[in-house]
Amino acid sequence: MANERTLSIIKPDAVRRGFTGEIIARFLKEGLRISAMRMMHLSRHQAEGFYAVHRDKSFFPALVEFMTSGPCVVMVLEGENAISRNREIMGATDPARAAANTLRRLYAENIERNAVHGSDAPDTARTEVGYFFSTLELH
Ligand code: CMP
Repeated sequence: MANERTLSIIKPDAVRRGFTGEIIARFLKEGLRISAMRMMHLSRHQAEGFYAVHRDKSFFPALVEFMTSGPCVVMVLEGENAISRNREIMGATDPARAAANTLRRLYAENIERNAVHGSDAPDTARTEVGYFFSTLELH
């Protein structure tokens, strides 16, 4: 079992609908630790940079529009196997396919407005954590 860090974002849909507290409580209840957290309204440049791997996808413009539509909460979650644990807690990208009681099943509206983001692998976790937080901000 490896101690890992992963980047989590509570997206603008979930913040707007008042689910921030419930989502944070769920991570803590599941045994993950929050080592950094910030509420921020992403600029277009910041959202495009974060999702650069999806630049050529058809949904990219809509994704950037959505992610800049209001404030989100970016966090670093830490714990044993935090990357896969967070992915289990979130559920499938499409809430219609997400298992019962996962965050996306509970709180997401559709595949685009899907409430939360989580890093999908150790290399992306490292890149994504570094995109938002410096080493000095990780507690
Ligand atoms: P996320 O885990 O943040 O990573 C990429 C995001 O693109 C994804 O969640 C969705 O919010 C968004 N997205 C929008 N449309 C699609 C789609 N058709 N397939 C996959 N991801 C999509």
